[in-house]
Amino acid sequence: MAESVTITDNRSGESIEIPIVNGGIEADAWRKFLGDIWFYDPAFTTTAGCASAITFIDGDEGILRYRGYPIDQLAEQSTYLEVAYLLIHGELPDAEQLEKWREEITIHTFIHENVRKRFLEGFHHDAHPMGILVSAVAALSTFYPEAKEISDDETRHLQVIRLIAKMPTLAAGAYRHSRGMPFVYPDNELNLPENLLSMMWKVAEPRYEPDPVLAKALDVLFILHADHEQNCSTTAMRTVGSSLADPYSATAAAAAALYGPRHGGANEAVIRMLTQIGSVDEVPAFVDRVKAGETRLQGFGHRVYKNYDPRARIVKETADQVFEVTGRNPLLDIALKLEEVALNDEYFVSRRLYPNVDFYSGLIYQSMGFPVDMFPVLFAIPRVSGWLAHWLELLDQGSRIARPRQLYVGADERPYVPVEQR
Ligand code: CMC
Repeated sequence: MAESVTITDNRSGESIEIPIVNGGIEADAWRKFLGDIWFYDPAFTTTAGCASAITFIDGDEGILRYRGYPIDQLAEQSTYLEVAYLLIHGELPDAEQLEKWREEITIHTFIHENVRKRFLEGFHHDAHPMGILVSAVAALSTFYPEAKEISDDETRHLQVIRLIAKMPTLAAGAYRHSRGMPFVYPDNELNLPENLLSMMWKVAEPRYEPDPVLAKALDVLFILHADHEQNCSTTAMRTVGSSLADPYSATAAAAAALYGPRHGGANEAVIRMLTQIGSVDEVPAFVDRVKAGETRLQGFGHRVYKNYDPRARIVKETADQVFEVTGRNPLLDIALKLEEVALNDEYFVSRRLYPNVDFYSGLIYQSMGFPVDMFPVLFAIPRVSGWLAHWLELLDQGSRIARPRQLYVGADERPYVPVEQR
């Protein structure tokens, strides 16, 4: 075989030749030959946990495609709602399908009054909106108990619609509560990003008029964040989904995974870092601290991209459009200087560390008026469509329950010692 690897078991002298398919080898062949030997792979850097037809990434070349469509073409010509359809259904909708999809999503934007009264408003006044969102999404499973019927296509579809439609409402509701502001109901005359802006910022005016440039920018950011193959939160979604949990519980787990600073919390960490650096003059000293291992350059580096993250390029262009409306974010100069210094520094060059999607997205959100604790929430709103696409794919594949092996490194057997003898 031209494309294959040969494994020899030196204990028995036996060999096996395994074909390389799509750049990998199937664990089945390994397992049959070396069933008693685990593949020790913490953080799954060498393990493909599934086969997927949703998102393609080539980290060396800086390529990202959803269902085959390049991310820059989608960001330029599509809308988040259409991209969500693409991720879920595998194909772009025709005009009629798109209109039906829009209608379905729109009529499900409202949340049950008890979700608002009992859950959103039950949180402490200064609760982090991401904590509220994670809990409220989990709570939805108790409002839609039929969601457990995951083998029924129609029921599945309804929960997908509900989740995509209700995320902006829950997100804005979490924000309003954390600021002591009254809840704003969805305005179904508005499109998805406009509606989010309305639910966030509406005060006493009869109708909120969203700025079209800002709504478009938000839509582009949503497209860029909609999916990213087997990242930490999607892996959580697939892992919990593999136990056949309902989609709300699985989505809550995925959102919880997104909360951490290494993942969806990174754009929040970027703003905190830029604020702490304080001025362009302090950039070289900060970079020295990063190189000394005292801190990380937030918004830089990626497990998969070893080249400029293609999303970061689009975010940078979007930032310019937003700043024309909102005024220039004063932290931008520090970010530009950091990027310039890092991209010319041996430490970052040799490790192939480039800006990722989060390096500039926080600057846009901040200029639009979103507080930093809303950043991971803004990430979760569109990512739900990616999570659900993976969940549907997992179920269609009839996947087995996720259950990795472990390498046990603890104590050997030892007798129990009563407490008075220890
Ligand atoms: N600043 C400084 N050094 C870094 C950074 C960074 N941001 N990222 C990686 N390195 C160094 C790291 O110290 C290591 O050096 P050495 O080989 O000398 O020990 C080397 O680069 C490889 O790093 P790693 O930690 O093994 O890489 P990883 O693939 O495990 O981690 C990452 C990927 C994204 C968690 C990491 O790059 C990081 O912490 N970045 C900052 C947080 C961030 O921006 N996260 C958002 C990711 S994109 C959006 C998303 O997916 O949610």
